Amino acid sequence: MNHCNFFQSSVGKKVIMASTGVFLMIFLLLHLSVNLFLFSGEKAFNDAVFFMRENIFIRIMEYVLAIGFIIHILFGIKLHLENKKTKGKVDYAINYYFSTSFSSRTMVYTGILILCFLVLHLINFMIPMKYSNHIISDYYIVVSLFKNPFYTFIYVFSFLILGIHLNHGFQSSFKSLGLSNDKKSVWIQKFGSLYLWFICSGFSIIAIWFFFNE
Ligand code: HEM
Repeated sequence: MNHCNFFQSSVGKKVIMASTGVFLMIFLLLHLSVNLFLFSGEKAFNDAVFFMRENIFIRIMEYVLAIGFIIHILFGIKLHLENKKTKGKVDYAINYYFSTSFSSRTMVYTGILILCFLVLHLINFMIPMKYSNHIISDYYIVVSLFKNPFYTFIYVFSFLILGIHLNHGFQSSFKSLGLSNDKKSVWIQKFGSLYLWFICSGFSIIAIWFFFNE
């Protein structure tokens, strides 16, 4: 199989989805770690954001991240459309429904919702932080957003959707990369649940905490 055929094949597409997915999951871990500085106060958070912004490696990784997101979304939609063709056949569709979980059946929809969240999120934070000439503190931009009940709700709802997406994504990326077997899958599941709870509750606690405090 040449390279072109590999990326066109369904195995190839799954490998691309899984590797970009793992990359995005590592990003989430790093992103949450920086956000947790919000609990250490204004100076600590502003310094952490400043460090990330000035670091040349992080700056290069921002472009890799954007490319990773785009590839993950485009291949995800392509895989969904191709699968839909096969599932159009009635007996396959019934079998598919009973043999899969809610989170695996809804991957494309939770993915689209996360994309909508991401657009809103970048408008909320990245644009004012990068282009406000730093008159307003980064900490203040974050904290004041969560004073608004509408944004707090949208954010926490999005973290729930992210959790549903990661619930299938985590397990399935190990399988697609050929790293899972019967023995390992128990550990992958445990580690996956830990990861999922840390990410979803970590982000949610930030939003809820600053809604009620500060
Ligand atoms: C409580 C939750 C969150 C808070 C407070 C938060 C905060 C921030 C802040 C302050 C920035 C701007 C950093 C800068 O410009 O230097 C940022 C950027 C970003 N966030 Fe979040 N974030 C949250 C959740 C998420 C989630 C769940 C995702 C992914 C699904 C995400 C994806 C991103 C991306 C892709 C960027 C742009 C990264 C860059 O290139 O600088 N964020 N976030």
